[in-house]
Amino acid sequence: MFIERLNTNDNVFATLDHLKAPQDKTAGLKGACNLRGQNTASVPHYSPFRYPGGKSWLSGIFRQWLAGSGSSVLYEPFAGGGSMSLLAVIENFIPRAVLFEKDAAVAAVWKTILSSDAHWLIDRILKFRISIDSVNDVLMTKTRTTRTLAFQTIVKNRCRRGGVIAGGAGLIVRGERGNGIKSRWYPETLAKRIQLIYEHRERLEIREDDAFRYLPKLLKSKSSRLFLDPPYTKLMTPGVKPLYLHCRLNHERLCEMLARSEADYLLTYDDTSFTRQLLEDCGLPFYPVDMMNSNAVMKRELLVSNDFTKVTSHR
Ligand SMILES: C[S@@+](CC[C@H](N)C(=O)[O-])C[C@H]1O[C@@H](n2cnc3c(N)ncnc32)[C@H](O)[C@@H]1O
Repeated sequence: MFIERLNTNDNVFATLDHLKAPQDKTAGLKGACNLRGQNTASVPHYSPFRYPGGKSWLSGIFRQWLAGSGSSVLYEPFAGGGSMSLLAVIENFIPRAVLFEKDAAVAAVWKTILSSDAHWLIDRILKFRISIDSVNDVLMTKTRTTRTLAFQTIVKNRCRRGGVIAGGAGLIVRGERGNGIKSRWYPETLAKRIQLIYEHRERLEIREDDAFRYLPKLLKSKSSRLFLDPPYTKLMTPGVKPLYLHCRLNHERLCEMLARSEADYLLTYDDTSFTRQLLEDCGLPFYPVDMMNSNAVMKRELLVSNDFTKVTSHR
């Protein structure tokens, strides 16, 4: 079994041993065998966000997918923390990345970091004296500028349970090692990540918009390269707590577009019977990938791609 250990701190790893052939054997990709991941002891984290369903476990596979790419731009239609676009640009796999994000609060963080306000944000984070009162003050403030919204979003993301930005999610109570609200507040680390992204600002673009306005055109072009991490399909189920402000999506439309696509794409989905059925109905081949999340719980996600040979290692 090949185990790719991705992050010693988060205890996240992905197993690739069962990536022998796509589930949908009708797709003619049975030759996509001999898969090996990149054996790294740890994965650098570039995003200032903690994202529910974050993609650090995918880093090794993602690097393989990027390697040898002739594309000059990577598009990430459902950006969130944009961890894969950051990896692609900072590790020089691709000259530019364009991120789309519908949530104004999330987009505000990106806009701020990619502008000269990045320094204001770094300063604000480093000077913030964290306590329940100061966090509540920030969260209750009516923000009037993009940069104050960005700071508020980072505080929400770091101090709320599960990093949930949307709605009225509660603050972390016990947290790691009983550190409560301070558990995920690492000002120096955040400052360094923001500074590094700022240094790559010429190669990153954020568009606060609905990805569906661009997807038909992007997916039609042979020269497009897209990484898609849409909200989990299970978030469509009535009664399931929303993780993001924009959780609901026309997954059928997305999959139909992918099935007709000429572009190079890699997509991740949660492994549910709904998702499997949807992918099968659209004739989209998929691989299950197991990983252990930060709570040491085994999880499985599905990888969908137009060409699985790009995520296989032949070395
Ligand atoms: C699963 S998260 C992405 C997480 C990201 N891959 C990471 O590693 O941090 C999905 C994101 O897509 C955004 N989103 C949902 N619907 C969207 C749409 N129609 N257009 C653009 N962004 C959308 C959500 O606000 C959320 O931030």
